[in-house]
Amino acid sequence: STSREDAASADIGVIGGSGFYSFLDDIEEVRVETPYGTPSDVIALGELAGRRVAFLPRHGRDHRYPPHKIPYRANLWALRSLGVRQVLAPSAVGSLTPEYGPGTLAVPDQLADRTHGRAQTFYDEGGAVHLSFSDPYCPAGRRAAADSAKAAGWRPVEGGTLVVIEGPRFSTRAESQWFAAQGWTLVGMTGHPEAVLARELALCYTPLCLVTDLDAGIEEGDGVTMEEVLRVFGENIDRLRTLVADVVGALPAERGCPCPRVLDGIKLPLELP
Ligand code: ADE
Repeated sequence: STSREDAASADIGVIGGSGFYSFLDDIEEVRVETPYGTPSDVIALGELAGRRVAFLPRHGRDHRYPPHKIPYRANLWALRSLGVRQVLAPSAVGSLTPEYGPGTLAVPDQLADRTHGRAQTFYDEGGAVHLSFSDPYCPAGRRAAADSAKAAGWRPVEGGTLVVIEGPRFSTRAESQWFAAQGWTLVGMTGHPEAVLARELALCYTPLCLVTDLDAGIEEGDGVTMEEVLRVFGENIDRLRTLVADVVGALPAERGCPCPRVLDGIKLPLELP
């Protein structure tokens, strides 16, 4: 028989919207506390595509946390403490180029941080830790995501830069045009510090970005509205959920990527869970 402790574990974490509960079988819900506070919600553990998966709704079940208030550190710490080593991060993003319209799936390879004031490290006491973040995402996870998407009939955008704004407001037209002029392709509000906190815990982190709108500098019309974002996300949630399940099944069980070794040789000021 399985003890409760054994059962309360997972290899893969999915941080996503609330449309993701129904895909796990034999769900067990766990409440986790961390040195960095309480995660966005209880974490649902279950089986998916032959893997143990932990699901955490990024904004909380009732969408109580806006992007700048999400307890990012607690979320990543909690997932790692359950055994999670690979994180899939579906999210809604705006497009900074007319070629990537609503409904496009993108797996960016770069990130630009335009947030401010968010806690973005676990290592802020007891000595500095400077990790490489040149390539913010797991290469094996990105490969699995793009391949699964193609196999399922998406035409995924591979690569590109996600700029993460502080929000909660959307960008002005000038900001949006400025981002596009940098060559950045996608804009969101939650991709940072989620990715860097995963890196600090030696987790694989793979973004799955669903374009819900053309951002204000691109669109001719009235700019972005929350209503539009929610409508397009809702229209695509079923196939996005299916894709997440496919990617879970395609992630390598043994990690051959650089992610597990990013902390090798570094003296950490604290013990990881
Ligand atoms: N999330 C979805 N669409 C967005 C946009 N246009 N800007 C920032 N975050 C978004």
